[in-house]
Amino acid sequence: MNVHAPALANAHLPDERTSAFARDVIADLSQQPKRLSPKYFYDATGSELFEQITRLVEYYPTRTELGILRDCGPQIAAIIPQGAALVEFGAGATTKVRLLLASCAFKTYVPVDISGDFLNEQASALRKDFPDLAVHPVVADFTMPFALPGEIKDMPKVGFFPGSTIGNFEPHEACRFLRSAREILGVGALMIVGADLEKNERMLHDAYNDAAGVTARFNLNLLVRINRELGGNFDISAFTHRAIYNREQHRIEMHLVSRKSQSVRMLGTSFSFRTGESIHTENSYKYSVERFGALARGSGWRVLKTWTDAEKLFSVHALVAEA
Ligand code: AVI
Repeated sequence: MNVHAPALANAHLPDERTSAFARDVIADLSQQPKRLSPKYFYDATGSELFEQITRLVEYYPTRTELGILRDCGPQIAAIIPQGAALVEFGAGATTKVRLLLASCAFKTYVPVDISGDFLNEQASALRKDFPDLAVHPVVADFTMPFALPGEIKDMPKVGFFPGSTIGNFEPHEACRFLRSAREILGVGALMIVGADLEKNERMLHDAYNDAAGVTARFNLNLLVRINRELGGNFDISAFTHRAIYNREQHRIEMHLVSRKSQSVRMLGTSFSFRTGESIHTENSYKYSVERFGALARGSGWRVLKTWTDAEKLFSVHALVAEA
């Protein structure tokens, strides 16, 4: 859910995106237990902190997925039809897609993201480095149905959803997303999806509780953003980052825990917190190869091939859209 929403300068002139943010925050903090949506992590600071997370020693997913895409490049290339269009759902750093573009015979690249400015920057850089590639960015929320550019109508289509972003969806949302991607790409299309694997709990714990505290800053930045954009008065030092592995649910949970009994105001609404009360900010589901296969099959896709690294930390799946 890397949204790259630009920070809005003035909390007193709410545009459509700010008011959706305000509505969601007020509704989510009014729930019991309190929560906030992880899609709001990614303002400019949050996106930068996430880039730092991907380079942390403890955070194995990014470098492991990159290793799989690099090592299995020829095998991935072997299943890509000639002259296919690559449709990336969400456009973050281009490192991963560059590996696919370099090893496979794609004619066209369609990055889909909510942030038009970010998309256009990425598109210009890619056009320069891949002069034979046609790049057609689509500004859209990739979790909702959207239209593909007419230029790729008759081309074979390959979806790309790396980074284990699928793990940040609830299982029913992951199923809805995969069904929607199948509708958009069409029967017979391929989809390459990265999914983090279940593993020993110490390694999972450390990946979301790094020694340098970058993940803690990433989590707490959500409160900084609410203060800036919604005129909130969160005392950031009165909340602490907590990430735990929930074994029954197969997920890392991130929370912001109140260090004391306190009350916080924003946009005329007041929220009270008990000492130790948490705001649940993110789930990061970890799949076994079998459970990911079951999710794909239940969403209209067949697993064609699965690649993992030697230590079985991360998986990359090639799916085919069933009739
Ligand atoms: C973007 N997403 C796959 C990351 C994850 O691992 O779930 C977000 C993240 N949250 C804390 N660290 C990284």
